Amino acid sequence: MTKEYKLTDHIYDVIVVGAGGAGLRATLGMAAQGLKTASITKVFPTRSHTVAAQGGVSAALNNMGDGDNWRFHMYDTVKGSDWLGDQDAIEYMCRNAIPAIIELEHMGVPFSRTKTGAIYQRQFGGHTLNFGESMAKRTCAAADKTGHAILHTLYQQALKHKAQFFNEFFVIDLIMDNDGTCRGVIAWCLEDGTLHRFTAHIVVLATGGYGRAYLSCTSAHTCTGDGNAMVLRAGLSLQDMEFVQFHPTGIYGAGCLITEGARGEGGYLTNSLGERFMERYAPTAKDLASRDVVSRAVTIEIKEGRGVGPNKECVYLHLEHLDPALLHHRLPGISETAKIFAGVDVTKEPIPVLPTVHYNMGGIPTNHLGEVVNPTPQNPEKVVPGLMAIGEGACVSVHGANRLGANSLLDLIVFGRAAAYQAKEVIDQQKSVKPLKARDGEEAIARFDCLRHAKGSLKTADIRLALQRAMQNHCAVFRTREHLEEGIQKINDVYESYSDIQVNDHSLIWNSDLVEALELENLIQQSLVTIHSALNRTETRGAHAREDYPDRDDKEWMKHTISFLEGNKVSFTYRPVHLYTLTPEVDVIPPKKRVY
Ligand code: FUM
Repeated sequence: MTKEYKLTDHIYDVIVVGAGGAGLRATLGMAAQGLKTASITKVFPTRSHTVAAQGGVSAALNNMGDGDNWRFHMYDTVKGSDWLGDQDAIEYMCRNAIPAIIELEHMGVPFSRTKTGAIYQRQFGGHTLNFGESMAKRTCAAADKTGHAILHTLYQQALKHKAQFFNEFFVIDLIMDNDGTCRGVIAWCLEDGTLHRFTAHIVVLATGGYGRAYLSCTSAHTCTGDGNAMVLRAGLSLQDMEFVQFHPTGIYGAGCLITEGARGEGGYLTNSLGERFMERYAPTAKDLASRDVVSRAVTIEIKEGRGVGPNKECVYLHLEHLDPALLHHRLPGISETAKIFAGVDVTKEPIPVLPTVHYNMGGIPTNHLGEVVNPTPQNPEKVVPGLMAIGEGACVSVHGANRLGANSLLDLIVFGRAAAYQAKEVIDQQKSVKPLKARDGEEAIARFDCLRHAKGSLKTADIRLALQRAMQNHCAVFRTREHLEEGIQKINDVYESYSDIQVNDHSLIWNSDLVEALELENLIQQSLVTIHSALNRTETRGAHAREDYPDRDDKEWMKHTISFLEGNKVSFTYRPVHLYTLTPEVDVIPPKKRVY
């Protein structure tokens, strides 16, 4: 089989798959420490989805003089996670946010500035002072284009440190040893059609989320969670896949993101009665409650007939009361997006918005050093040798059941940086990388070849649409057993239909037909795990709202779901939540009822 395909082998100390914020932060950190580092990415680095992040990155810098402190940030993150987040990792993230952001500033990220020249910080949902007393100004922003500013800086820094880039290479699968060690990856160069095997001491997956499993999402078309699916195919597990975040303010129809920073700068939501309805759902934080709370509130308003627009399918986000100079200065990007995608001049009229899929809290289970774990009942923290994961594709778990806004860019930066430190710590550069065997990667090539020549009757786009519709309708903000079971039936049908896929372009060069077919398989595998996990968890926690189980059940369910996939069959084990801190410098935050 492999004879048909000429293979080129590469050896590195580290291979980082994905060049978004997490991947680039890890890549530059590794290269800067003298590790021979390769970044493999299916899109050019500065086109990675991090470029679309708008509102900002959280860190308790206290630049706005509000008395902020990383312990408040930690409390908010644990509470935001609905007590499913691992408190050791959350401590690590909130404490290291401060040096990690200052490093970014020194690297050249063009943050917005206060009058005194410090990094400007705005309010964001669920970020408070003094353990919930009032809202904090914690989100460091570069206008409403923070991801763009960070991504470009990181790429330039990675080039400066001589990291090697393999741009527009699609990674097909991991190469695993029989003893469970990860040895490398097999990748397809989209430009010239050649296949490549990369081997290294460590492979880092920084492949992002799988928002494109849904019909309406803020994610780029490239967000197909390829690393997550590779992990499933390697017989490893994913964690907490039932937790899918809906951002409350996607533009009605288009789904494009209107940053939470809009509400952070003073924007608010109303229903068809002109009511500021968030006052009823979150009397203290109101429009700046955490995202799961706001998304549920918007969904209820629409369901109960108080939506706006011709079909009453959305609510209004108001910015027109704000100073046009502020909108121009702090929110130029969303002002433009609202004009293009909703035909709205934000200085004059409200934007029609509704909850849209935005983020996956679940992913590849790791510890706070970025090492992938393969939990077993005997050892829930068992590390997979040679494999790390960071960013949205990973589940550290700092976001638990619900992520706070601005904690995603932070997660990318802090754990990208942590992975670089850990790789330097564990890699012995005097030891050569174990060579690959001739047949390594053969199975992945067989799968690739089979798909390349698939002669079924169904188009990729049609199968994908059926998948996205099923996920959107059956695994959304509110869930019930009946609805999820219907969804599983539909996704099983999608799974079956994939074996009848048709790939018309058999070439190897810029074959987007084949890329999309490979990505679709990845989406189907993650969707199966997501919807089964949602059915399995019989409680409501964070973004997982079961109408038939409306309460959080800490006795039964304060545990991480660990899911495995074989064919279309999903099985589960569990991993304990880390109800302990990393250092004695901060106390564990005990579970309590979550109100905003
Ligand atoms: O609303 C936003 O700007 C998104 C931020 C985030 O998801 O962290």
